[in-house]
Amino acid sequence: MTPLPPKSPAESAVTEQVYMVFPNDLNAKDTVFGGQIMALMDRYCAVVADRHAGAVCVTVGVDAVHFIAPARRGDVLIFNATVNRAWRTSMEIGCKVEAQDAQKGPRRHILSAYLTFVGTGEDRRPIPIPSLTPQSADERRRHQEADLRRQMRLQHAADLKALRGGHAS
Ligand SMILES: CC(C)(COP(=O)(O)OP(=O)(O)OC[C@H]1O[C@@H](n2cnc3c(N)ncnc32)[C@H](O)[C@@H]1OP(=O)(O)O)[C@@H](O)C(=O)NCCC(=O)NCCS
Repeated sequence: MTPLPPKSPAESAVTEQVYMVFPNDLNAKDTVFGGQIMALMDRYCAVVADRHAGAVCVTVGVDAVHFIAPARRGDVLIFNATVNRAWRTSMEIGCKVEAQDAQKGPRRHILSAYLTFVGTGEDRRPIPIPSLTPQSADERRRHQEADLRRQMRLQHAADLKALRGGHAS
């Protein structure tokens, strides 16, 4: 099969997507419900994944998510997401979420996360996706780091499977 032509991170990136916080996004402490931010992040990353793969992609995993700072009433959330690395059928997408007072205060880093997506065919099975050609120094660093995280993810999944006597769940 002819290999798919490689793509750059910029070809699929989602940049500076804003979401205005409304009262129904808040929890009892008047800060944004974390699950809402995660759902938005998954959607933006799905757009990046579909663009890169040129196919429908599914989320296979999300690395540990740590909320660094809260987002509040009156904030806008700003999402940036790019492919860090693509392997045979899977890719890692990095997403950074910042918050900013809607009247234009300084930006606060709310959370960063790494999501793994898999390109799928009509039968919903994994399909080959284009490789990634990083261009900038930052993109090359992310590309290198992503491989290290992949090794840890796959090792973790294999360790859990072994512990459970060969069952994945
Ligand atoms: C994604 C899915 C199609 C993969 O099927 P599978 O039988 O596990 O396929 P494979 O074992 O061939 O793995 C496919 C790719 O995923 C990667 N992968 C599998 N498990 C992984 C994990 N826990 N973390 C990271 N990557 C993983 C594999 O390394 C492989 O990548 P590669 O081809 O680039 O090397 C299947 O697990 C699925 O349908 N999951 C549900 C997805 C979904 O519905 N998501 C929405 C949220 S509920």
